[in-house]
Amino acid sequence: MLVLRKIKEIEELISLKKQKGQTIGFVPTMGALHQGHISLINYSKQQTDITVCSIFVNPTQFNNASDLTHYPRTPEADIKLLEEAGCDILYMPEVKDVYPENDTRKFDFGYLDTILEGAKRPGHFNGVGQVVSILLEGVKPHKAFCGSKDYQQVMVVKSLVKQLNLEVEIIACPILREADGLAMSSRNVRLNEQERLEAAAIPEMMKLGNQILKLYGIAEAKKYISSVVATIPNMKLEYYEVCDAETLELLSEFNPKQKQFH
Ligand code: PAF
Repeated sequence: MLVLRKIKEIEELISLKKQKGQTIGFVPTMGALHQGHISLINYSKQQTDITVCSIFVNPTQFNNASDLTHYPRTPEADIKLLEEAGCDILYMPEVKDVYPENDTRKFDFGYLDTILEGAKRPGHFNGVGQVVSILLEGVKPHKAFCGSKDYQQVMVVKSLVKQLNLEVEIIACPILREADGLAMSSRNVRLNEQERLEAAAIPEMMKLGNQILKLYGIAEAKKYISSVVATIPNMKLEYYEVCDAETLELLSEFNPKQKQFH
């Protein structure tokens, strides 16, 4: 696997590969890789000739300085995992290579940026837009593979691609879960033993919540989730919402015919 640090090097190499008629798949990440990321590498390998992964902890998408400082960083283990998975090229830049100057661009993601993570983390999706546009414009992949755990982020990235007229297909891939059902996430390593045990209740309560939702509607499902969270010592509920899977519109009434994604 080739490890490149400069966007110029990536651009030159990719243009050579494209001249040879090879297709490019891209997996953007912030490192601290787990099997969820590796599944994205595998999808890319199945669907394209050359797989590029990026590892860059993007400062502009953190609206909380302590979250940025404590974001897990495991570069050696990441390189090993990517090599074992057969990734072809790793782009691992410094902040100054991605942002030679302050990025002051403001994207308009409309409604998408006003709800859920958009509402709770002001500026987060703008930062995602900044870095993803720079990465996609540098790597110029045919396809980019994103995890559906960050469902709202995938929608933001699709909107970005449309706004910037980029010629890339964004592919949302399935969530990978730990044996106890918790969605894999780089941030899981920040949980202590007790918190990790408690986190296993999340997939469980979401499953039951879905059943209550279908039988009794949104208000009852919300009540159920709040009441379970209230019994878990280290857990606080930021939000539990039921949304239209196509538009992410927050719903107040559940229609079982609505496209569903859990
Ligand atoms: O999901 C992530 O890891 C990041 O938000 C992304 C898409 C790599 C942009 O920094």
